[in-house]
Amino acid sequence: MVDFPNIRAMAALTRPSNATIEVERFPATSRLLHWAVAALVLATWPLGFFIQFANKDVALDFYMIHESLGFLVLWLMLLRVGNTLTAGRPHAHGAPLERAAASTVHALLYVLLILMPISGFLATNAHGFPLTWFGLVPIWSPIAKSPDIAWTLSAVHAWSAWILLALFAMHLGAVLLHHVIKRDNTLYRIL
Ligand code: HEM
Ligand code: HEM
Repeated sequence: MVDFPNIRAMAALTRPSNATIEVERFPATSRLLHWAVAALVLATWPLGFFIQFANKDVALDFYMIHESLGFLVLWLMLLRVGNTLTAGRPHAHGAPLERAAASTVHALLYVLLILMPISGFLATNAHGFPLTWFGLVPIWSPIAKSPDIAWTLSAVHAWSAWILLALFAMHLGAVLLHHVIKRDNTLYRIL
């Protein structure tokens, strides 16, 4: 009779049930800001896109919620830049090219996440619709109604939206590559 190795015993040897995964994680503030901004962006982006299909009765509410959530992203991102500069980050891992790709996409995400709310905010002001945050807090307009630049700002906002989506697709693709194919600890660094 062939004596097969005891698979369970082997699995237990390679990955004991009480094993803890050693992961160098991002600081708690960075993780919190990552998920707060991610959740806001994942709500703000589709809201912005669907404004154009919204019924006239609800379109103004769509605008208000979209603009208010987006405006919050701006302040969280400014906080995040300060946090990233001071709180530190775990060591980068992977091949040099992989590390360069990751930091380029991350840096561009930062730029876009600041550019998007600023262009949207200035566009609404230039179109002559100052923001009242969640219908409660009137926000000072840095620029008066100026139709000539309003459409340029809107175009910057719309183009940035698609660039942001492309970067997010790359980001998610990379996360899936690490988690599902390479099966490394990358995802746990941010959890
Ligand atoms: C992270 C923040 C933001 C994201 C991801 C975002 C995303 C989007 C997207 C995807 C669209 C649709 C673009 C298209 O139709 O091609 C849009 C439109 C719009 N967004 Fe935003 N947005 C953000 C912040 C803001 C802010 C802060 C304001 C204003 C205070 C704003 C005002 C608008 C307006 C008025 C439109 C509709 C038409 C236009 O382009 O002028 N957005 N946004
Ligand atoms: C929806 C699911 C998401 C997952 C599973 C995810 C996962 C991750 C992971 C694993 C990292 C750490 C990468 C590393 O170790 O170097 C990370 C970092 C990062 N993620 Fe995400 N992410 C998500 C959504 C988003 C969204 C929506 C954005 C922005 C639009 C975003 C922007 C970033 C940025 C800028 C970093 C770099 C970390 C920093 O320096 O702050 N992520 N994400």
